[in-house]
Amino acid sequence: MDASRVSPVNLILLGPPGAGKGTQARMLEDRFGLVQLSTGDLLRAAVAAGTEAGQRAKAVMEAGDLVSDEIVIAILRDRLSQADCAGGVILDGFPRTTVQAEALDALLFDMDQGIRAAISLEVEDQAMVERISGRFTCAGCGEGYHDIHKTPAVAGVCDKCGGTEMTRRADDNAETVASRLSAYHAQTAPLIDYYDGRGVLARVDAMAEIDVVAQELSAVVRQATA
Ligand code: AP5
Repeated sequence: MDASRVSPVNLILLGPPGAGKGTQARMLEDRFGLVQLSTGDLLRAAVAAGTEAGQRAKAVMEAGDLVSDEIVIAILRDRLSQADCAGGVILDGFPRTTVQAEALDALLFDMDQGIRAAISLEVEDQAMVERISGRFTCAGCGEGYHDIHKTPAVAGVCDKCGGTEMTRRADDNAETVASRLSAYHAQTAPLIDYYDGRGVLARVDAMAEIDVVAQELSAVVRQATA
């Protein structure tokens, strides 16, 4: 099957933990009218809601390992079938294994859709711990921040929604980051070749400042959607 054959615009953001997938997906959402679909966020919501899938995923996520393909594919399938995804999605954190990539191909084929671009955010491993340990998020709207690289204009107040409750993730600690990085290299990095082989891969230097990465990414998306 030709994975790039039809609209709507479905994009994949690939990259290790802390590469900036969530930060950039939210920017692309605003700029291109696409829906961010983060399996990490969906799993954290399932954990918080205490669903069966969430209960099974909780300890795995806390250890920095990958949740089973079966659980993640089911969650993704449900979310992708919702009406707001019909205009196109930015997949953030999915697929993460070859099994997930093949399931996504099959799912999109059934919907008469494909992948327009898979964008690899390229970063050095040593930047990850610093990025992740400084991350915090607005509890109200999910906007992401960093202690050094992206601070709110007014300390403690979300630029986007004015919320004042900020949270830090349970898995954002040095020990878990090491496990998440090895899971990435062992199971997710091979997907770069997978999408290269399908002719939809683009690479973006994600070591640059957030705004610079955003500009480069927007250019790639404009080209992919032209
Ligand atoms: P998930 O939530 O997907 O986490 P992750 O992949 O580890 O990625 P992160 O959210 O940590 O990083 P990000 O790339 O989004 O970076 P961000 O933009 O926040 O997954 C969590 C867990 O869920 C997994 O470990 C696994 O257990 C499970 N899971 C999820 N999906 C799964 C799947 N498909 N299969 C199996 N299991 C799954 O940026 C990080 C920080 O850096 C922020 O503070 C930001 O402000 C800052 N920053 C961003 N860009 C820059 C820049 N260019 N320069 C400086 N700082 C920057």
